Amino acid sequence: MSATLASRVTVVEVGPRDGLQNEKGVVPTERKIAFVDALSAAGHQVIEVSAFVSPKWVPQMADAAEVFAGITRQDGVRYTALVPNLAGLARAKDAGVREIAIFAAASETFSRRNINQSIDESLVTYRAVCDAALADGMRVRGYLSTCFGCPFEGHVPPSRVADVAARLLDLGVFEIGVSDTIGVAHPGQVPDVLDAVTRQVPLEKVALHFHDTRGTALANVLAGLQYGVTTFDSAAGGLGGCPYAPGASGNLATEDLLYMLHGLGIETGVSLDGVVAASQLLRGSIAHALPSRYLQAVAPA
Ligand code: HMG
Ligand code: MG
Repeated sequence: MSATLASRVTVVEVGPRDGLQNEKGVVPTERKIAFVDALSAAGHQVIEVSAFVSPKWVPQMADAAEVFAGITRQDGVRYTALVPNLAGLARAKDAGVREIAIFAAASETFSRRNINQSIDESLVTYRAVCDAALADGMRVRGYLSTCFGCPFEGHVPPSRVADVAARLLDLGVFEIGVSDTIGVAHPGQVPDVLDAVTRQVPLEKVALHFHDTRGTALANVLAGLQYGVTTFDSAAGGLGGCPYAPGASGNLATEDLLYMLHGLGIETGVSLDGVVAASQLLRGSIAHALPSRYLQAVAPA
């Protein structure tokens, strides 16, 4: 089977942002900095470091500027951050960030709960953010949440996902992170959603972002690989979840993803041992076991 799959895949490491935004306790800034530096040492080429969102909404990300100031930036590594509005863009630019991600949703209720705006309103906000960021030479990724289901509305029609994806692309984003916010996707659904999205967005601009709430994330990645997707998001240790998505648990664990990809003979440029070492840095700062199955197998807490 692997002969038909890509020989190389980009893994976008979202642990420092999607992983840590949902932790009940706030991880000390110094520990976050060490975590990001360990992830770059592991060979990650894209690391989502933090989020310049309202600290009232997500206090765990309030130290975004301090984390960016403390990390040791390696050549060739893209250090990215979420930006919800022009205030966030100004903070990101002050912190020396050159790549940001905006985040819209395919379902109205989740959009309202997550960013206090309808989908239409959010796209007006994001147009202003994209225009300013692109004029400044920054790269902008676009996340699209609830593509496989919404915690409030349930089923989300793939046609609606494709419609919002097209509108995001029109803002000038270089890639769309088609996201399973609450981990409801299953491999049978992945081609259906990708069929709809790729009628609007070229396949090479599609990334997949799975949460592993129901244990289907790796199977979904395999379905995505078979479809021809070559960029996947994951979080070291399997941390994660969205504070505004009830029932969302951890992201697909980077360790588990790498174990499968490397086993299939797919190159990532990322060291599995290096990611294990990075995840272990968080032990002691996180009040629960890290969910990654690979990590539990090789380095039980
Ligand atoms: P709002 O309350 O409607 O807007 O929030 P506001 O303009 O009235 O702002 C409220 C307060 O926050 C004000 O302060 C602003 O100044 C301040 P006050 O006047 O009360 O003292 N503020 C800011 N401060 C710093 N940086 C900023 C900023 N913006 C406002 N950028 C807003 C609207 C969008 C700001 C808010 O809803 C927000 O920050 N939401 C972010 C929620 C979030 O981060 N969710 C998790 C990330 S998304 C995710 O996890 C999904 C993803 O992983 C993909 C997937 O899995 O689906 C990406
Ligand atoms: Mg997420």
